[in-house]
Amino acid sequence: MLKDIKEILLTEEVIKEKIKELGAKISREYKDRNLLVVGILKGSVVFTADLIKNINIPCELDFMAVSSYGNSSETSGIVRILKDLDTNIDDKDIIIVEDIVDSGVTLDYLQRYLKARNAKSIKIAALLSKPARRKTEINVEYLGFEVPDEFIVGYGLDYAEKYRNLPFIGVLKEEVYK
Ligand code: IMP
Ligand code: MG
Repeated sequence: MLKDIKEILLTEEVIKEKIKELGAKISREYKDRNLLVVGILKGSVVFTADLIKNINIPCELDFMAVSSYGNSSETSGIVRILKDLDTNIDDKDIIIVEDIVDSGVTLDYLQRYLKARNAKSIKIAALLSKPARRKTEINVEYLGFEVPDEFIVGYGLDYAEKYRNLPFIGVLKEEVYK
């Protein structure tokens, strides 16, 4: 697995420190509200788990699964819901938790979808952002790091379902996916 990694961008330690900050900020800003954290499967599972451990106010957790990529490294622009929320969200202050914002198509769709279902408020937490690739403007209130326009794996992010279990964020060698 390690032989396929060109470069480590973010170590476990650096990620841990950042998530601590993000959790503290969310805890301050959602005190006395009705927080529902919505993790987007599967890429955000590792980030979501670490983030909620750093949130020290009451919160609920749910997951959605969407697909836009299939097994390739380029977005199709089409978003499909594979798993919907389990609960009613009328009175919920939602934070959508994503692994990475790339084109922004997935989050743009999810925000509109949850708004249509009458969520009280919707904000976004994303561990990573690739601003160079954006096709639609997305406001990420809780952002971990900006990364260059390369294929990123680890800490939940996959290529063809692999590398999610790497504890750091790295760049995948081009020869693996080209
Ligand atoms: P978007 O809709 O183009 O913003 O794509 C978002 C989704 O694409 C993320 O949730 C990831 O699952 C996937 N993705 C985008 N860039 C990468 C990457 O560099 N590595 C792994 N997955 C990625
Ligand atoms: Mg993915």
